[in-house]
Amino acid sequence: MAVLALLVTVILIATAVARNTASEARQAPSFSVYSCPGPASRLYLPDSPHDNYFYSDCHSSVHVVVTSPRLDSDLKIVKPRLLVAWPAGNSGALALFAPETGQEGTLGVRLENSTDSGNSLDPLNESTRVGVSGAINFNDTARLTVPILGSIRAIRDFTEGGNTNQDFQGNFGFRLNADGGATINRTWLDGVTTTWLTFTPLNGAQAVVLNRGATWTLSFGSGTYGFDASFNYPQLDQLGPSDVLTKDASGLISQNPDQTTSLSFLSYTDKLLAGTWRFLTYFGRDSMISMLLMQPILSEDAIEAVIGAVLERVNRADGTVCHEEILGDYATWLNRKEGITSSKPRCDYKMIDTDFLLPIAMERYFVGTQPGKQHSKAFFAKTATFLAENDGFNYMQLAELTSEKIMRIATPFAKSQAKENLIHLKDGEQVGEWRDSNQGLGGGRTPYNVNTALVPAGLRAIAALSRAGFFTDHSDWAVLADSYAQIWEDETLRFFQITVPQSKAKSLVQSYASSLSVPSNTGSIDADVTYYGLALDGAVGGPVVPVMNTDDCFRHFFLNTTNQTQLSAYLGQTADHILKPFPVGLSSDVGLFVANPAYSGNTSFATGFSHGDYHGTVVWSWQLAMMGAGLSRQLGRCTSDDVPDFCKDTTLHSKILSAYNRLWDLIEANRAQLSHEVWSWRYDNGYKVVQLGEITSTESNVRQLWSLTFLAVHREDFGSS
Ligand SMILES: *[C@@H]1O[C@H](CO)[C@@H](O)[C@H](O)[C@H]1NC(C)=O
Ligand SMILES: *[C@@H]1O[C@H](CO)[C@@H](O)[C@H](O)[C@H]1NC(C)=O
Ligand SMILES: *[C@@H]1O[C@H](CO)[C@@H](O)[C@H](O)[C@H]1NC(C)=O
Ligand SMILES: *[C@@H]1O[C@H](CO)[C@@H](O)[C@H](O)[C@H]1NC(C)=O
Ligand SMILES: *[C@@H]1O[C@H](CO)[C@@H](O)[C@H](O)[C@H]1NC(C)=O
Ligand SMILES: *[C@@H]1O[C@H](CO)[C@@H](O)[C@H](O)[C@H]1NC(C)=O
Ligand SMILES: *[C@@H]1O[C@H](CO)[C@@H](O)[C@H](O)[C@H]1NC(C)=O
Repeated sequence: MAVLALLVTVILIATAVARNTASEARQAPSFSVYSCPGPASRLYLPDSPHDNYFYSDCHSSVHVVVTSPRLDSDLKIVKPRLLVAWPAGNSGALALFAPETGQEGTLGVRLENSTDSGNSLDPLNESTRVGVSGAINFNDTARLTVPILGSIRAIRDFTEGGNTNQDFQGNFGFRLNADGGATINRTWLDGVTTTWLTFTPLNGAQAVVLNRGATWTLSFGSGTYGFDASFNYPQLDQLGPSDVLTKDASGLISQNPDQTTSLSFLSYTDKLLAGTWRFLTYFGRDSMISMLLMQPILSEDAIEAVIGAVLERVNRADGTVCHEEILGDYATWLNRKEGITSSKPRCDYKMIDTDFLLPIAMERYFVGTQPGKQHSKAFFAKTATFLAENDGFNYMQLAELTSEKIMRIATPFAKSQAKENLIHLKDGEQVGEWRDSNQGLGGGRTPYNVNTALVPAGLRAIAALSRAGFFTDHSDWAVLADSYAQIWEDETLRFFQITVPQSKAKSLVQSYASSLSVPSNTGSIDADVTYYGLALDGAVGGPVVPVMNTDDCFRHFFLNTTNQTQLSAYLGQTADHILKPFPVGLSSDVGLFVANPAYSGNTSFATGFSHGDYHGTVVWSWQLAMMGAGLSRQLGRCTSDDVPDFCKDTTLHSKILSAYNRLWDLIEANRAQLSHEVWSWRYDNGYKVVQLGEITSTESNVRQLWSLTFLAVHREDFGSS
């Protein structure tokens, strides 16, 4: 413990110096070269065709990905590359390689261990920059065709869309070095920060050749080259595994070294990051949902880092919570497009679900726990420093702005339960909640999870905060927010309900299954099929977007609803969808699919929810975690003082319990991929796991914050069904 305490103190001093130069002073920071007091943290995660290496010490942390196509890889998507991702500034470096022979698929790349240290990655020890070094082997002659040096956002744009804005691809420097190596550098649009990538021949490999074509490229012989990747940007203060977990949970560090190291890699003193390598920065929804699912094991520092990061980024104009922050080179670029010469961070405010999570997170910690109650006063008195726009606002004022917004937008429906008064996507936006790919809501504009779960849960939390002494300007909220919540809880589900008559259900599932060449399992359709569609106002299929989904987990996790008829029926249909195999229900050998378009009866529409779509017939780990935690909360109500009716209906209770246990059997069977963001499948005598990145250019992050929540979410024993 003493060593770790020292480590944290030293980091704080080191970065306090760096931080001052971060924003407008426009000077490159300097970096400490002292030896770290504790050992470095290293993690290797093979995830074919990607090899992932994590390195953290008291100076910096980095994730290095080496991709090497397999014989069966789709070569349009999987290309040889070296990718370096740094949490600081959401920064990175990409070197994309091609076989010099021009024959795709013939080049294999891998890291070799250092002959000096025996490690795959070592830190650079320089006072002017931070970085890593390693050795990369090419099994044939290779050419570095595309370098991207600067922003992970720019690299993500490139891998997903095939191009990066040319503004990021100017001002490269290429230099051949005396030792036969070569260096590429690029100074960011801020004119101060530089990213460097150097290759040096090892063990007699041939000198690097610079090809001065229309775009400059580097050629390598077959063999091994040392590389180092570095940049000079202020670093973050990482929370070590024992800083991010409570004392009681510290046993997890030795039991789950992979997940706890990954959690620490994504956790910093002033924010938690959504995942790596693609979302290596603040995301409001991801961090709050992760916090809520992991609350029992997270330290006070980690929880306050999550809530503090959200409050810092609230839009002071209307209280909207920030979805994604934009930092570093990408921020300078977006600022410049608006005619602003500045590297100041920015926020994306397009989401409509994230606002509601803020009062929920605040209530669960600052009202629901003893440490939260003790820290509340000092915490909410803090003044925001991250966004220039929020200068002078304290955390309490920002929290109140968000709650005022929620009360404002929840009022029309509380007064009149018309469809028009539900919450819909912002005008001009195609996305607005977690299914945030363009196809994710099937064209719908009024999302199911937001309206039936997040709005009422946010209102309940505002009422509870108010009763606990928050929001003194609005003392009426203690009663009013609860009365609104009751209406949103009880009156919204019906808008999203779809019932498909039994015989129609069979024929729809039959034809969908044959279009996919998977078993139809229609024998398990023994009644009309009821489910709640993804959203309202889609382009097809009537008033509700006809896609069965896992979003029921939001109501189960966030609400203790009280209309008994409704609750029993609702739990019953969730249980059916877990118990019945896809495409009748949602379950398969690889987990629950987050979407099932079988009942849409429209092949062209269903194609938008394929096994290659980010929000299609694929499995998201955190949806399994929230379903597990949500059903557990509902079953837990059966032993509370106020026992819901479903507990006393033995047939129904037993069905829910079977569904709960079936879900956990699926979760346990998929342990190997649970920490991944999302995964897909192929059918071969059963559903087999396939990485999404092997079938589409949207890769799954190998480690995602909310996929690590199984550290805290477990199967509970409610007896057998
Ligand atoms: C880095 O180099 C300096 C000398 O330049 C040395 O004093 C220091 O111990 C080195 N740090 C590490 C971590 O090796
Ligand atoms: C290099 O690796 C690739 C991909 O694994 C393989 O197809 C190719 O045959 C290898 N080439 C040589 C020369 O070993
Ligand atoms: C690098 O070293 C590790 C353990 O020190 C070993 O497991 C691994 O196989 C080595 N990698 C290579 C490419 O030799
Ligand atoms: C980048 O590379 C060019 C060409 O080698 C060199 O002139 C320049 O000084 C380098 N810039 C930095 C910041 O290292
Ligand atoms: C409960 O919900 C059902 C619809 O599911 C509705 O018919 C009934 O009126 C509601 N009961 C109360 C007390 O609100
Ligand atoms: C089927 O879906 C497509 C969108 O994918 C839509 O254009 C078409 O109108 C739909 N057909 C029907 C009959 O709803
Ligand atoms: C629901 O009720 C249970 C006990 O019955 C309680 O532990 C839990 O905190 C409640 N959840 C919410 C969201 O109110």
